[in-house]
Amino acid sequence: MKTKIFYKKKIIRKLKNIKDPRGDLSVGNFIDNIPFRPKRYFIFKISDKTVRGEHAHIKCHQFIICVNGSFKVEIDNTKTKKSIFLNSPKFGCYLPPMVWSKLHSFSKNTIAIVFASHLYNEKDYIRNYKDYVKYKNQRK
Ligand code: TYD
Repeated sequence: MKTKIFYKKKIIRKLKNIKDPRGDLSVGNFIDNIPFRPKRYFIFKISDKTVRGEHAHIKCHQFIICVNGSFKVEIDNTKTKKSIFLNSPKFGCYLPPMVWSKLHSFSKNTIAIVFASHLYNEKDYIRNYKDYVKYKNQRK
């Protein structure tokens, strides 16, 4: 599986982790760790083998942090595919606009927070993979 294109976008970002007897702290700064200024966040709490995502965003950047549990993120930009396993708040997964993503293989009690660069707008979603490929090819 090729990863060159995704590598350039630095999909997996290591965040600062401060170990402390009172409890570990995971820290991220917007812009240097998380490469956009968020306007919105959402949190999902999942306990079963479901699938989320399966869409692309036209303009919206997203940054996913797994706070508890674990899951996989499949990322596809029509040329390369990458599978990322998230199981720690020490790392974040950056999803630039115009990539197709799918979240799956959730463990029990998974909680993740997603920061988004734009407010919720259904018009920013491409929910059909064929439409995504068509849109992507048109923009070349
Ligand atoms: P969706 O983005 O499709 O979820 P996922 O990608 O995780 O599978 O959103 C599910 C529903 O929640 C959809 O009806 C839109 C609504 N929603 C909002 O109203 N605001 C938001 O910020 C998000 C992310 C979703």
